[in-house]
Amino acid sequence: MSAVTVRVPAKVNLVLAVGPLRADGYHEVATLYQAVSLHDEVEARAEPGLSVSIEGDRADEVPRDTENLAAQAAQALAAYAGVPADVHLTVRKDIPVAGGLAGGSADAAAALVACDVLWDTGLGRGELTTLAARLGSDVPFALTGGTALGIGRGERLTPAMVGGTFHWVLAFAEGGLSTPAVYAELDRLREGRPVPRPDVSRKVLAALRAGDPTMLAAELRNDLEEAACSLRPSLASMLEEGRSAGALAGLVSGSGPTCAFLARDEEHARALAEDLADSEICAAARYVSGPVAGARVSGTGR
Ligand code: C5P
Repeated sequence: MSAVTVRVPAKVNLVLAVGPLRADGYHEVATLYQAVSLHDEVEARAEPGLSVSIEGDRADEVPRDTENLAAQAAQALAAYAGVPADVHLTVRKDIPVAGGLAGGSADAAAALVACDVLWDTGLGRGELTTLAARLGSDVPFALTGGTALGIGRGERLTPAMVGGTFHWVLAFAEGGLSTPAVYAELDRLREGRPVPRPDVSRKVLAALRAGDPTMLAAELRNDLEEAACSLRPSLASMLEEGRSAGALAGLVSGSGPTCAFLARDEEHARALAEDLADSEICAAARYVSGPVAGARVSGTGR
């Protein structure tokens, strides 16, 4: 086999409860991830040496050197499996860069799966998940997809039971937000306030099991929202715009600036996406549904 293509989804955090800052510089979190139908694609092609090219909107904002997370994933896998890191990675981006949708983490997960098949390393899913966790807190979830509870840094996963498909609108903002900067802003805002242990309520798990968007809407929560809105005040208007356009609920996705709005059904979500796309506040809006599968091989070539 000379080329392997992997498709990998974006995620939204239905709940992101952020606890105290740990000694290792990460925050203890309890989060509920859902993979949604917005995908990047990574093609791994057998070539001497390790190189990366990026295609898609704002491709110029993605690093091509050793800072690229997909390249780091290939390097880490090669070192672990004891094979030469001979691969050209083509990352085709549809997930916005620095959007709070774990696009970089998704590309790393896709590169792990693609190179694993290309190099025929014979590693198990557990070993890939361990490598994924070293690359970033959200990378293990991009491998597994679906809907899952994440604890620790977000890398320790338990699948959640989901009784149906949920329909979302993603509203994109101009430009990205840096995840470390948003966490640092939360620490600043919280100075002097007690920080409770992060937790995901039973009610949100029940809403997922029931497949009930109205129940779920009441339980959506992101502790990073306050910090993301503090760094980007226009996000408060974007949230207001979606809510007044009839969304059941809206929240900042991860560290932002993308906002996710929950709809009653597909028809409602598509209408909401049109309304938001026409508004001046959003750069673009798009209907997605979840949960969807994690990083999967979508094609191979000889
Ligand atoms: O794990 P990842 O490399 O994606 O995290 C990026 C940054 O986000 C970390 O360096 C840290 O500043 C912040 N972070 C955090 N607590 C987490 C996850 C991420 O503080 N649980």
